[in-house]
Amino acid sequence: MSVVDLRSDTVTRPTPAMLEAMLQAPVGDDVLGDDPSVIALEAESAQITGKADGVFTPSGTMANQIAIRCWTRPGDEVLVEAGAHPFHYESGGPAAISGVTLRPVEGERGILDPETTWAAVKGGDPWVAPTTLLCVEDTANAGGGSVYPLQTLDDLGEGARARNLHTHLDGARLFNGVVASGDTAARRCRPFESVTFCLSKGLGAPAGSVLCGPESFIQEARRIRKMLGGAMRQAGYLAGAGRHALAHHIERLAEDHRRARALYEGLRTAGWAADSPETNMVYVSGTDMHTTAKQLSERQILAIPVSATRLRLVTHLDVDDEGVDRTIAAFEALR
Ligand SMILES: Cc1ncc(COP(=O)(O)O)c(C=O)c1O
Repeated sequence: MSVVDLRSDTVTRPTPAMLEAMLQAPVGDDVLGDDPSVIALEAESAQITGKADGVFTPSGTMANQIAIRCWTRPGDEVLVEAGAHPFHYESGGPAAISGVTLRPVEGERGILDPETTWAAVKGGDPWVAPTTLLCVEDTANAGGGSVYPLQTLDDLGEGARARNLHTHLDGARLFNGVVASGDTAARRCRPFESVTFCLSKGLGAPAGSVLCGPESFIQEARRIRKMLGGAMRQAGYLAGAGRHALAHHIERLAEDHRRARALYEGLRTAGWAADSPETNMVYVSGTDMHTTAKQLSERQILAIPVSATRLRLVTHLDVDDEGVDRTIAAFEALR
């Protein structure tokens, strides 16, 4: 019996067509600036997000860390939602790499409320750490894969500008939000000075993210990427996968969203408590989700318990309808 791997949308293997695109990708030396596939990927990414320029990074973590480093000075404070990836899962990078503190602001399903956010802004007095950057995560992973209303993105961007804060969008799953909302990526990115999106999540590439923003910012981002050891040589093979993902794997995210909904409905019918999904994540609640995860794995269903009482299921390119049905059947058997 094959494994249904719902741990994350990062577990996908490249499709045969993506592997072929990688094989065919022309490459150079990206550290010397002459890898044609990377140059093309960066230009396409800048265009799709409506920014002036882009830089290819090995991971979303590095892209976020570079953005934080570029927009801040040591001693600054950065506002994030309380469940934000850089706050929980980037290994203390903001403190180590940029010398900044992160200030978590409690949102609703991972979505920041502008007024609550502005109440956390500090500055002016010499004894406080000045707030200089707002990082927004869309879709919000720990919030359940929730999608920001466009108006809230606009309000956050406008309010940040009025308070002289820089703005960065962690769009690790930007395109899930794009497909769910029907807005273009450029429109959703417009309120933010910089944005990163991951090629290696729902888009199905084996690695890589792109950080986009103004030209001078990207120039500095390239220096920080080099400093962190993130400049790669024949990176065009990976960029080839990324270009294929942008061309062929965006619209199909709607299938992942449909399957997440089917999972949710099946689990609810089976008597499990779950949060209604907005994109490709279903968070299921129970008394002992570590044991549930173990019992699921015995049935070849993999999922990650994010706490003792919550378990996350993520649909992606390598989960089909049969996998969804098997998962529902496994949960039914455990009830
Ligand atoms: C919202 C968010 N931002 C950033 C990242 C980091 O991406 P990477 O795993 O490529 O470092 C992740 C990874 O899951 C994420 O969910």
